[in-house]
Amino acid sequence: MAAAAAAGQGSGGATNIGRLRCARQGKAAASSAAAAVSRGVTAWHLRVFAVVVGVMGCLLLVSSLMMSAVHQVQFRNGAISRGFRGLQELKQNSVRTEQAEQIMHPRLLEMATSVITKNEPGSDSENFALWEEPYKQARKWKPCAAKHSLPGEGPEKNNNGFILISANGGLNQQRVAVCNAVVVAAVLNATLVLPRFLYSSVWKDTSQFGDIYQEDYFVSYMKSDVHIVKDLPPHLQSLDLEAIGSQVTDMDITKEATTSEFIKTVLPILRQNGVVHFLGFGNRLGFDSVPVHLQRLRCRCNFHALKFVPKIQKAGSLLIQRLRRAGAMQTEMDKQLFGSNMLDDPALAAGAGAPSRFLALHMRFEEDMVAYSLCEFGGGDEERKELQAYRETHFPTLAVRLRNTSVSPEQQRSLGRCPLTPEEAGLVLSALGYDRRTFIYVAGSQIFGGTARLRPLTRLYPNLVTKDDVLSSGELAPFKNFSSQLAALDLIACASADVFAVTDSGSQLSSLVSGYRVYHGRGRAPTLHPNRKRYAQILAEEGGIEWGGFQRRVKTMVDEYKRIAARPRGRSVYRQPRTPGCMCRARGDGSVDF
Ligand SMILES: *[C@@H]1O[C@H](CO)[C@@H](O)[C@H](O)[C@H]1NC(C)=O
Ligand SMILES: *[C@@H]1O[C@H](CO)[C@@H](O)[C@H](O)[C@H]1NC(C)=O
Ligand SMILES: *[C@@H]1O[C@H](CO)[C@@H](O)[C@H](O)[C@H]1NC(C)=O
Repeated sequence: MAAAAAAGQGSGGATNIGRLRCARQGKAAASSAAAAVSRGVTAWHLRVFAVVVGVMGCLLLVSSLMMSAVHQVQFRNGAISRGFRGLQELKQNSVRTEQAEQIMHPRLLEMATSVITKNEPGSDSENFALWEEPYKQARKWKPCAAKHSLPGEGPEKNNNGFILISANGGLNQQRVAVCNAVVVAAVLNATLVLPRFLYSSVWKDTSQFGDIYQEDYFVSYMKSDVHIVKDLPPHLQSLDLEAIGSQVTDMDITKEATTSEFIKTVLPILRQNGVVHFLGFGNRLGFDSVPVHLQRLRCRCNFHALKFVPKIQKAGSLLIQRLRRAGAMQTEMDKQLFGSNMLDDPALAAGAGAPSRFLALHMRFEEDMVAYSLCEFGGGDEERKELQAYRETHFPTLAVRLRNTSVSPEQQRSLGRCPLTPEEAGLVLSALGYDRRTFIYVAGSQIFGGTARLRPLTRLYPNLVTKDDVLSSGELAPFKNFSSQLAALDLIACASADVFAVTDSGSQLSSLVSGYRVYHGRGRAPTLHPNRKRYAQILAEEGGIEWGGFQRRVKTMVDEYKRIAARPRGRSVYRQPRTPGCMCRARGDGSVDF
């Protein structure tokens, strides 16, 4: 019902925009006629001509808008016609503001446009599985970190004290910190206090654990492994933890430390004071120094125990339902993401004309990322100044380092350290053979450079939406001031997508979603990773490369990332859960190999 009403609003919105523009055009026509008169060109018939042209143009515009409204309603069958409203507005904005389009690779873009507009599959696109996982071995890996409730099993009762963590970063960095803290609490036989989230000037979100994750579910799911409580007991709450030496910052522990380091440096403090506060706690626990049963705990936390609150689950489920046909619901992934809060109302779903599958693209091209990379993106002096100003505000130490050292942007680029622009992401997709009709959900917040940056991509792929297009402003209102909760909706859309395309494999959201798709995707949830260094080399040869050669090299690059292998040493288990303790490899006889 809500969707139908919203859809109505959507087409109404489009028509209103039409009327507005029409009125403006009429006025423009009249005023140009008036100008003609005042300039003394006088001819009365010229004025009549101008008005007639204005009126005719107006009528044509109205009729074409009506046609497009009808077309939209037929195509989208109501449910996500609003999806196009956002895009329409985007396009109209681009026309209105007339910003210069920011193109870095004009030659390739032209070739891509001509190839995908013809909707002709590329010379050898049949070599590339667009919507499937090409390697069947992927299906041999099964999730195996779920809780086994053995009676009488539980953590030691007389534990060593309480662990408090204040996690920094955005949604995904916090998630990693939470699951690492679970392991540290288990190692130290400590009780974990529900994690706190630090406010960051980049993410600007005051959300706490309970605003994002179901607290009770988390506590109860982990209870046979780690005691988790909501608060410190009163006698510890009044302590000044920093003053008594119970505060442990990231400076006190090696990056990717071993569990024995925690026992050596943290356990004595815990035993002495009964409490330790980890402040920050980013990436402090290594991935290879952890025994299998603790690795399992980490995956149990990340892949099973952390469920979004019902408010996020419901909005996420609505988002997915509109992005897919109803029949595609209720996959294993959906169950994991939405639990009992999965909306299952066929009336909400998109109709027959809706996309049956969609690709989610995580466009990690926000200003923080762009500024941090120290790269240049063809925007000249203006861009340079803006990024430097951003660094001064948000990354002061980096800004200082940059002033002293001579990091060349070209060098950064050739080392693969620059985030992909929307244009470069579009070129990868077209080289792989995704045609112009491909339905693309773009995750990521404020794209640096806005519409002008995005336009090369929307030109290649006009069926491109974000959550702001798929959900109405009313539906998004409860999340509006909370970037982490908005990021949760993106995470959901990316995890559920038929294909997930990453622009920056190092980004936390991309990394967590890739892992989630490996773990819960049953070997049928492909993810496309570019290798930025190789892509930079390919793009560097832009001047001479032909489209066929570009396609072949991009395909090889993406295909190599798709090979199925156990987690290599040093890699995150959250991103690559095919590792002992997390996933198990089924043998031919049906048994599993831990
Ligand atoms: C935690 O408890 C286990 C089981 O009782 C014990 O073997 C281990 O030594 C304890 N570790 C610490 C750091 O207290
Ligand atoms: C940067 O330069 C300033 C003075 O120009 C100097 O005091 C400072 O130590 C330098 N910092 C680094 C990190 O080299
Ligand atoms: C969001 O924040 C702004 C300013 O901080 C405030 O005026 C507005 O009411 C907030 N909206 C919601 C939905 O919380």
